[in-house]
Amino acid sequence: MSLEKEISKRRTFAIISHPDAGKTTLTEKFLLFGGAIVTAGAVKSNKIRKAATSDFMEIEKQRGISVATSVMGFDYNGMRVNILDTPGHKDFAEDTYRTLTAVDSVILVVDCIKGVEEQTEKLMSVCRMRNTPVIIFINKLDREGKDPFDLLDELQEKLQIHVRPLTWPIGGGSSFQGVYNLYQKELNIFEPNKTGISENKAKIVDLADEKMTEFIGKMETEKLRDDVHLIEDLFEPFNEELYRDGLIAPVFFGSAINNFGIQELLETFLKIAPPPSSRECIERTVDAREPKFSGFVFKIHANLDPNHRDRIAFLKICSGKFERNKFYWHTRLNKKIRFSNPTSFMANEKTLIEEAYPGDVIGLYDNSVFKIGDTLSEGESLHFKGIPSFSPEIFKELENRDPFKTKQLEKGIQQLTEEGVAQLFTQQPGNRKIVGTVGELQFDVIKFRLEHEYGAKCDFRPLNYKNAYWVTGNTPAALQHFLRDRASLIAFDKEDRPVYLSESDWMLNMIKQSFSEIQFHSTSEFSETKVGLVKS
Ligand code: G4P
Repeated sequence: MSLEKEISKRRTFAIISHPDAGKTTLTEKFLLFGGAIVTAGAVKSNKIRKAATSDFMEIEKQRGISVATSVMGFDYNGMRVNILDTPGHKDFAEDTYRTLTAVDSVILVVDCIKGVEEQTEKLMSVCRMRNTPVIIFINKLDREGKDPFDLLDELQEKLQIHVRPLTWPIGGGSSFQGVYNLYQKELNIFEPNKTGISENKAKIVDLADEKMTEFIGKMETEKLRDDVHLIEDLFEPFNEELYRDGLIAPVFFGSAINNFGIQELLETFLKIAPPPSSRECIERTVDAREPKFSGFVFKIHANLDPNHRDRIAFLKICSGKFERNKFYWHTRLNKKIRFSNPTSFMANEKTLIEEAYPGDVIGLYDNSVFKIGDTLSEGESLHFKGIPSFSPEIFKELENRDPFKTKQLEKGIQQLTEEGVAQLFTQQPGNRKIVGTVGELQFDVIKFRLEHEYGAKCDFRPLNYKNAYWVTGNTPAALQHFLRDRASLIAFDKEDRPVYLSESDWMLNMIKQSFSEIQFHSTSEFSETKVGLVKS
């Protein structure tokens, strides 16, 4: 099959949500439709449960299990579907943000009772950074939830994106009868069904059709007709191009646990979601159809078995064809490497692959040669954009508890931060090490792994910072002045870029007013034009 055909049949996406909205359930139902699993409950083990927050080893074990299910691929109606899994636990949100750099689109699950939640907003803001196309699935319609029009308002307001319903619920909670598909002009009758994959469809092209009342009763028929008129008044017809540009999000309603609205979500998704296209590099834009292979590492997962220190690097293929045992160029290390055991992931199975195409994610056994963001190519020096670090939310100073193991501690923290477990900032004088994470849990994980994998003992001293901002200046002199003046709040990230550690929004605003020639960036990726990255 030609490269172009391989690309056009691939859809690589992530299902994301605030914990408990139904991401795992929806993923599982997609896998059932795709025939990748045969029983419900198969991907449940992938979920990091709330009850386990204090038991981080259990969480690590579950993360171990999740390596196998990190990418779930299956074929459906001639298409190749790659679902990139993201951890449900909020302390691993950074893993999720990074995974979003590797997808071509996203399905965002929202609980109809709770509406837009904290994590929903954060995830959406990450999608907005790259204009990732988003489909919204409003879940749990079998339960009494918010009014659907209110939900649409809430989505537009809190997620800052235009929405367009493509299906519409008839009743809700105990009186939930089904959805009307505004896109296909089809009525879907709800029948609770937790295990099978059947859906009862009634082809009713014209809403004025009297047969409608036979299915949903007179009152609901009238309400549906009124609602649909209102929707047509309020919303422009669905525009696929605006969706693909990340400017409008189509909205579907359903009940994942009851398998309701899932098949039409999947099928519409496959029709409208974009295949892999082009991707920006610092040097140029890389088109997926270019014959030469290129790809980047967006995630690294450590092997939990202490006897096998190797890690798995997850590589997203951006252009051309990847082949096993062929030499590729590692841009950062400036050397050729070949891979004899690249793997692909099919639900719970890892399989050796001979070749892979744009949109695919492959696992490469890694003996510490990779960092997140590394690029492989056929010789060209490329640096893919859009793989930034985000500001951590919790900061602690790393304290060495065993001076005889300083080297081990340094190596360990270096490697763990390269894996993306946390971010490391260094402060001068004294080489003070500040570790930043999005959740408390990571500190337990780091401490445990430093001790068990590197033989180093450490403590973490809490620091009072709220956010880290990458700073640039209008001129190198302005930046130098700022870095010297505020030295006690400046640290350097792993690439030696200066960050300002902010204690509060109030302080940040004061500083912004005092230093008008300095720019503060909440991610590590920003326009390079004003960067004066000179270490003081
Ligand atoms: P997450 O991955 O987003 O965290 O959510 P998950 O799918 O695990 O779903 C969270 C809870 O919501 C689960 O219940 C799940 O069964 C339930 N759920 C998912 N979809 C629906 C739906 O359409 N309707 C209703 N009523 N519930 C739904 P749980 O009790 O936490 O777990 P479990 O014991 O069912 O596994």
